Amino acid sequence: MPGQHRPLIAPSILSADFAHLADEVKSVEEAGADWLHVDVMDGHFVPNLTFGPCVVSALKPKTTLPLDCHLMVSRPEDWVKPFAKAGASVITVHAEATHHLDRLVHQIRESGCKAGVSLNPATSLSAIEEVLDVVDLILLMSVNPGFGGQKFIPSTIAKLERLVRMRGDRKFLIEIDGGVNADNIGALRKAGVDVFVAGSAVFAHKDRKKAMHDLKAGL
Ligand code: DX5
Ligand code: ZN
Repeated sequence: MPGQHRPLIAPSILSADFAHLADEVKSVEEAGADWLHVDVMDGHFVPNLTFGPCVVSALKPKTTLPLDCHLMVSRPEDWVKPFAKAGASVITVHAEATHHLDRLVHQIRESGCKAGVSLNPATSLSAIEEVLDVVDLILLMSVNPGFGGQKFIPSTIAKLERLVRMRGDRKFLIEIDGGVNADNIGALRKAGVDVFVAGSAVFAHKDRKKAMHDLKAGL
């Protein structure tokens, strides 16, 4: 079954040129990006460090794109309010990072943001089964989180198909993150993905319009 929403492409600024972030964002906005994916890493939950809420609030007035904030952090409950205040549209937390996922999802919704939950490649879908009625989005990691430019893990496709079956009539979006490119985006769409994160597949190319066009052509 294809995705239930029109396909959305969310370039990840992890692969952008940080010295020119506002221009980088503008280039993908003009190239037809639907969302902007912001990979927040704390050097603890994942072995890399990236952005805090101050980067989100700095980008907010520079773009009309929804800011899709993917929190790869320990103690995500501490960061919902700061990211909501900074202008996040979607806040996605990892099921592995909290003991109280239901409370956290409600905390995100009460902050006025859409609530997403993410799973690492080795985490079973059973970890999110009980929150499927209260989430706006499920993000499946198709690489081990921490770095851009990694290879797509093939077993994600079967996991995705199982998630689509679990979703049934629910309306949450399914997002895929890691190793998405023009060659695999079509199969991912067919398997049921609604939102495609693309870091290196967009920002590694000088011509952002062509990169976005190639991704859309693969759908
Ligand atoms: C990985 C991040 C991804 C990453 C995707 O931890 O969550 O969003 O930037 O980058 P690519 O598309 O290059 O795999
Ligand atoms: Zn991400």
